[in-house]
Amino acid sequence: DDTRMVWIVASITVFPDFPKPDQDFSVPFHKPEVFRDTIGLFAERYKGKGITLVAGIEARGFFLAPTIASELGAKFVPLRKPKKLPGSMEEYSLEYGKDRIEMQVGAVEPNDRAIIVDDLIATGGTLNAALKLLVIVYCDIRAGAEVVECACVFELPELKGREKLGKVPVFVLVKAN
Ligand code: PRP
Ligand code: MG
Repeated sequence: DDTRMVWIVASITVFPDFPKPDQDFSVPFHKPEVFRDTIGLFAERYKGKGITLVAGIEARGFFLAPTIASELGAKFVPLRKPKKLPGSMEEYSLEYGKDRIEMQVGAVEPNDRAIIVDDLIATGGTLNAALKLLVIVYCDIRAGAEVVECACVFELPELKGREKLGKVPVFVLVKAN
């Protein structure tokens, strides 16, 4: 019922099985209205919720997360593929072929309230690794953020990625048919 959502969904181009099976869509963020409305829908959802940190996952999470962070007045924390960030790292391995993702030590503080942003949740392996990075626990004491929610544009619900994230909810902008 939100006309912005109708506009975003209608503008999506499907490229079957590009670049690998099941990852077959492209949101035309080069269209300023589509980008603005996508950011707007996420920002409205989290405004006033005390979010202090927006984590974005390389690469496609970077399309969205910094702008959402700016709208919320929160810090943007990049979660990167290996050996890209300088300084000391927290790291977490993904369970299948995609190496691991890294976050700079000191990027999160124990009182941060975070959301994690990516374009797509498929198996949930990527978001699960991101969650593990943000919610760092040493000797039963939480030294990382409280993750309020994961936010994606799309979901492949048949892969049940949400089940990997325990109690942390996943908000998806465009529901699959
Ligand atoms: C894609 C997508 C998500 C992830 C979802 O990233 O952008 O980050 O896969 O899959 P999962 O839920 O099964 O983990 P990918 O690393 O393939 O490419 P990118 O660098 O273009 O974001
Ligand atoms: Mg990705």
